[in-house]
Amino acid sequence: MKFTVAIDGPAAAGKGTISRAVADHFGFAHLDTGALYRAVGAKGGDPVAAALNLSAADLARPDLRTLEAGQAASRVAVIPEVRAALLDFQRRFAGREGGAVLDGRDIGTVICPEANVKLFVTASAEVRARRRWLELGGETAPRPYAEILAEVRERDDRDMNRADAPLRAADDAVTIDTSDMTIDEAVAAAIARVAARL
Ligand code: C5P
Repeated sequence: MKFTVAIDGPAAAGKGTISRAVADHFGFAHLDTGALYRAVGAKGGDPVAAALNLSAADLARPDLRTLEAGQAASRVAVIPEVRAALLDFQRRFAGREGGAVLDGRDIGTVICPEANVKLFVTASAEVRARRRWLELGGETAPRPYAEILAEVRERDDRDMNRADAPLRAADDAVTIDTSDMTIDEAVAAAIARVAARL
């Protein structure tokens, strides 16, 4: 059975958690496409060459989840040749037998326009920055909240205003705004949407 779930949205809206939960619930494979761009950004050197030669070791680096790696990812993600180099791998993953969940920025719009279910998971910039700040330790976080909020806004701006595959909800996507939801509520909403299409 082929069944593709596309989950897009801005940084720290809950996409990753929701995607993993949906994949676990239905027994689908999951691809965090942000990790591909993070690995390209972290590798350094020529980003197009990095994208064409990504290895499993590049994707297993322990430093991919940092704020800095996220910023580096969004800088290489504006380069059309980098996006083109990563396209086939993502499409093949989406078409695998047994069902697939892909999360990112352009899955419903560019990578899998024919996805069976498209979700756009979002939350206000303030809520997303607060979640990142709490993840980093809250009052003991190495960075103040205001700085994290500024970075969230900067990354949103770059992701939404780039020419190639900008972050936006596909016309046929269902939006889940997690600003006032617990993670369990958001996961339940996503699972219900997928179940309705299976
Ligand atoms: O989702 P995550 O925060 O890991 O993504 C890191 C960056 O990679 C994003 O800010 C975005 O610039 C880029 N990205 C993208 N397209 C995707 C996934 C991520 O441009 N499908």
